[in-house]
Amino acid sequence: MTEPYRACITGLGSYLPEKVLSNFDLEKMVETTDEWIRSRTGIRERHIAEKGTSSSDLGVNAARQAIKNAGLTVSDIELIIVATITPDMLFPSTACMIQHKLGAECGAFDMAAACAGFPYATAVADAFIRSGIHKHILVVGAEVLSGFIDWSDRATCVLFGDGAGAAVVSRSEDEGGIIASYLGSDGAQADILKIPGGGSAHPTTNETVADRMHYLKMEGSEVFKVAVRTMDAAVREVIKRGGIQLDQVDWVIPHQANMRILTAVGERLKISMDKVVVNVERYGNMSSASTVVALHEAVADGKVKKGDYVVLVAFGGGLTWAATLIHW
Ligand code: COA
Repeated sequence: MTEPYRACITGLGSYLPEKVLSNFDLEKMVETTDEWIRSRTGIRERHIAEKGTSSSDLGVNAARQAIKNAGLTVSDIELIIVATITPDMLFPSTACMIQHKLGAECGAFDMAAACAGFPYATAVADAFIRSGIHKHILVVGAEVLSGFIDWSDRATCVLFGDGAGAAVVSRSEDEGGIIASYLGSDGAQADILKIPGGGSAHPTTNETVADRMHYLKMEGSEVFKVAVRTMDAAVREVIKRGGIQLDQVDWVIPHQANMRILTAVGERLKISMDKVVVNVERYGNMSSASTVVALHEAVADGKVKKGDYVVLVAFGGGLTWAATLIHW
């Protein structure tokens, strides 16, 4: 039985805070060098939100742009899904904050899938559209990671940045659009990438603060290996589900964690780096915002054209990984 509806991305938006923190700025903050950061990660600079700015502040700006680019108004949005690991509060959800700031009248919820949050949320939006329940869904990835980074830990503070991206996922009767999704997880590896404090396992106390448990913790080299393996596997699985071959893929738009990870994934897939969208040098790792901002830039630059096969792929804490195949 063929499904009655398809979902496609009809509008994209991004928002990066104005302030830029370069590797040279970081040299003055921790024992590091521009050369080390560039050679190990490919990152040159990242955007950092002003103190007092929340993820919903960034997300609502990206959302307004995406809605406008979709040719819609806020009243057309029937559901808001926000992917974030840096919510405004433990609750209410950041999606509710964005719903209010937009003036939307619809359901809203957050999705906790870390850096894989955007393809995870897009898969949920796709299912709501395919089922006929909704026509237009706003999917946002928004992060103020700067508030959760230990700025005295050189192994992590050089990697991350703040930013937001948004997409409107709409009902379409065309053949194209979102063709397949693939979601994966492995909680056995939760410890290699996490913010351990502040949840029900370790509620905030003077001790958790003194032990720096509210900052992002990462076993970098372990995460690196898993990232390469899972992103390679996720791309292969989603194109299999979509019924296409690797050589038909026009663009791979990966989570922007580290240039060396992206190169390694490209090599494993035997895909030319000309087909891999990269912007990590300007933004660092923006967690759930990375993939959607990269997609927005690739579309705005005219790289992604109608008829192209695009694979979004991401991995993150959880562990989680996910991929989306789109026939643009
Ligand atoms: N500046 C200078 N030296 C640094 C440094 C920095 N910013 N950060 C770490 N180092 C040092 C380490 O202390 C270590 O020193 P030692 O050998 O004296 O102990 C040395 O550099 C090598 O560290 P190592 O961890 O082996 O480097 P690496 O090649 O694995 O690169 C990462 C480190 C973090 C860049 C890399 O592991 C990585 O990108 N991992 C994945 C991270 C990621 O994607 N996270 C997000 C997932 S969503």
